[in-house]
Amino acid sequence: MDIKEVPQNIGFVGAGNMAQAIIGGLLDAGYPPERLCAADPSPAALAQLRAVGIEAVAEIPSSAFNAADLIILAVKPQFMASATALLRERLDPNCVVMSVAAGISTHSLKTLLGHPALPVVRCMPNTPALVRAGASGLFASPEVSEAQRRGAEAVMRVVGSARWLATESHIDVVTAVSGSGPAYFFAFMEAMIAAGERLGLDAVTARELTLQTALGAATLAAKSDESVATLRKNVTSPGGTTERALTSFEESNLSALVDRGMQACLDRAREMAEEFG
Ligand SMILES: NC(=O)c1ccc[n+]([C@@H]2O[C@H](COP(=O)([O-])OP(=O)(O)OC[C@H]3O[C@@H](n4cnc5c(N)ncnc54)[C@H](OP(=O)(O)O)[C@@H]3O)[C@@H](O)[C@H]2O)c1
Repeated sequence: MDIKEVPQNIGFVGAGNMAQAIIGGLLDAGYPPERLCAADPSPAALAQLRAVGIEAVAEIPSSAFNAADLIILAVKPQFMASATALLRERLDPNCVVMSVAAGISTHSLKTLLGHPALPVVRCMPNTPALVRAGASGLFASPEVSEAQRRGAEAVMRVVGSARWLATESHIDVVTAVSGSGPAYFFAFMEAMIAAGERLGLDAVTARELTLQTALGAATLAAKSDESVATLRKNVTSPGGTTERALTSFEESNLSALVDRGMQACLDRAREMAEEFG
């Protein structure tokens, strides 16, 4: 990630988990705190931000947001209407607005903010952003310039990887893959830890071996030029122990189970898009 690509001044509306993850990533990368500002009703969040030199306000409109060339909307979808109602009065239509909220379209964001030609980016991050290992999908409205795209991408790259999407509807697919994906892996790890314990390991050993295996497998896959299918075949000797476990998974139709779960996630993302516009 090139910190020089990050916009000059960034304002956050909502300073909860996701905003704090991005802010933490920016500060760790050497971004000056005086170029950040944030609005959030929570006194605890404001105190935390002020402690590291960030101008933090309880409510917009605030002059703190005047200089922002990127505004990141990081509130829950149900609070987006009230958050944007306040921002709308002060918004410079030349700045880019990036929303990390699920279900709220670029069209709705432009309508809520009162500028039909506003450059808007939608971003679907995930919780590993908290440890700079996130994965984000990004979609830009046609008004977003090349430089503004690079700026938005550079911000998300401070907390992990980022991929541009050609179609806005793919944001919902990203929700099904990486947005909700950490929970799928947590569920799989939970099941492995429970099975390890049932088979006789103590809880600490079962947890440590499971987590290190997940980390090791992901690191190996990320560093390898081979497909994950090849990596799987490489560790599956014919007639061996791994093959026996994988055969059992497939008898229970693991791939179909995952496919159905991700389809259910996508359906819910689309329902939420209907709910929130
Ligand atoms: N966390 C994730 O993994 C993740 C992944 C993908 C997308 N997202 C999206 O990211 C967004 C933020 O999620 P989060 O987990 O960071 O939520 P969060 O921790 O609840 O943070 C949202 C913050 O916004 C504040 N807020 C509410 N109304 C506001 C307003 N009008 N103006 C300014 N701030 C306001 C909230 O204050 P109060 O607590 O006082 O209400 C809270 O501090 C959500 O839309 C979520 O869907 C999150």
